[in-house]
Amino acid sequence: MNAARRKASALWGRHPAGTGLASSPWRSPRFYQEMRTTRYRQQPWHTRLLDGYRGGRLLEVGCGAGTDLAYLGRHFQHVVGIDLAETGARLAGGAIDHWQVKGATLVADGEALPFADGGFDLVYSFGVLHHTDDPATALREIRRVLRPGGRVVVGLYHRWSLFAAHVLVRYLLTAGFRNESWDDFIARCEQGSVEEGIRPRLRLYSRRSARRLLGEFHEVRARVSASPARTGASPTAAPGVARAARPTTGPGRAWSAGSGDGPRSPPAGSRQTAAGPRGR
Ligand SMILES: C[S@@+](CC[C@H](N)C(=O)[O-])C[C@H]1O[C@@H](n2cnc3c(N)ncnc32)[C@H](O)[C@@H]1O
Repeated sequence: MNAARRKASALWGRHPAGTGLASSPWRSPRFYQEMRTTRYRQQPWHTRLLDGYRGGRLLEVGCGAGTDLAYLGRHFQHVVGIDLAETGARLAGGAIDHWQVKGATLVADGEALPFADGGFDLVYSFGVLHHTDDPATALREIRRVLRPGGRVVVGLYHRWSLFAAHVLVRYLLTAGFRNESWDDFIARCEQGSVEEGIRPRLRLYSRRSARRLLGEFHEVRARVSASPARTGASPTAAPGVARAARPTTGPGRAWSAGSGDGPRSPPAGSRQTAAGPRGR
């Protein structure tokens, strides 16, 4: 793991995504209830998206505190959640216990999945791939562990959102007064990045670049959904715009989808993309 990645992982460990939505002590029953209620109240499209999936084995890459893992897990026989940060894996383990979902969580890297080929019906990864060093490698790994005809649903921050435009205008207006790259500026949207002085990698995707990223999959579909948003430094009313996936029929479908939320700060909207592996 390179130094930048170690730092980002430390940030996610100290500020697991979404924990700003709950005021109760971490891992308490009330904490998990608050996390679920608040997240899905803010993003009602999210449950509609997740309710469309069911099956045998589910893998979530970058499960964070495990809110989606436990929700999706209601309709799967077995779930596995992985996260680069130990705190995320531990909180997510508590989430599946709390919601009585069968499965396990562990610390692992989405770019080197510790699983055999073809073992999962669905791989879900929301608000994660735009942060990892090499999203193409992560998607190759996801494709490898999917069974033939399996599906992937990913949520990516959307480039053409009101939120991204808002951040860009602020950046341009203040660029002359600061010595800060765009990458560092927009990374402040992530929970904890301002306090910790850590700027995780953060990319924005257009429909076209998301499709390119999912080039190894077929039947890729994309949809934009709105998320509440605020920048790291200042709350904003500008909503993020995200893409939400919708299943097609038949085997090996692709969807595109959703939005990355961040704890209290899903930056730009995200797009989720669901797809079936090509040529399997
Ligand atoms: C913005 S959070 C999203 C968490 C969760 N999916 C959610 O929607 O609440 C990003 C998460 O991805 C994890 N992450 C980043 N890169 C990763 C990688 N290469 N492998 C596994 N997890 C990763 C981080 O530790 C963090 O928990």
